[in-house]
Amino acid sequence: MNNGETYLQNLLTNRRIVRNYIHSDEEYSGLKKVAEYAIKIPTAGFARGIEIVHVSKKENILELAKLSNEETYVEKGFDKWISKSLSIYILLVNEKAYHERYAQMDKEGSTNSSSWDTPYWYVDAGAAMMNCMLLIEEIGLKSGFLGSHNMKINDIKSLFSIPENYKILGFITAGIEEKGTSMIKNVAKKKITHNEYFSK
Ligand SMILES: Cc1cc2nc3c(=O)[nH]c(=O)nc-3n(C[C@H](O)[C@H](O)[C@H](O)COP(=O)(O)O)c2cc1C
Repeated sequence: MNNGETYLQNLLTNRRIVRNYIHSDEEYSGLKKVAEYAIKIPTAGFARGIEIVHVSKKENILELAKLSNEETYVEKGFDKWISKSLSIYILLVNEKAYHERYAQMDKEGSTNSSSWDTPYWYVDAGAAMMNCMLLIEEIGLKSGFLGSHNMKINDIKSLFSIPENYKILGFITAGIEEKGTSMIKNVAKKKITHNEYFSK
């Protein structure tokens, strides 16, 4: 990289959540592979309880826009986001896979997965989410994340044949950024990395 950053440092610097995409019928062959590589994550106990559904058919993306209440979002003055995505990655957690894994003999001495202070399935899901975003950045597109708190979860599960006991964490979106729409963030700088000691 000409600014002294490594390739990965550069991807991390440039990645931003983008919610404004332009309409495009262009095919991005790399989008399917994003899910395949994003899932290459470590998982607690190698439980492999994180899964991704890659959605790229236009009609399915439009359904996801409906089922995630895009209309309400647009009524608030925002641009269409989900429906203009080229691909959507539905991020799934199969919590049962963790409990089953930690019930196995070799995990007898471990803390019971139902008593974890931090449910590691969310840690693992975050890793997959970040991989997904960087892979999208790498193919020249921009990513976003819509949490599942305002979605018709059961309808989405039924449409995409997602098992009932899986949790939908949200959608990672990929699209071509509509230039000139990014908001300048007016937030105070905050120290969130620490060298050697937290404070001194
Ligand atoms: C777990 C998680 C949930 C998020 N949920 C939403 C969401 O529901 N809607 C949304 O517009 N952005 C959502 N975001 C995006 C954040 O608001 C975003 O990270 C923040 O604006 C900073 O973005 P940047 O680091 O790309 O600049 C979410 C991000 C994370 C990590």
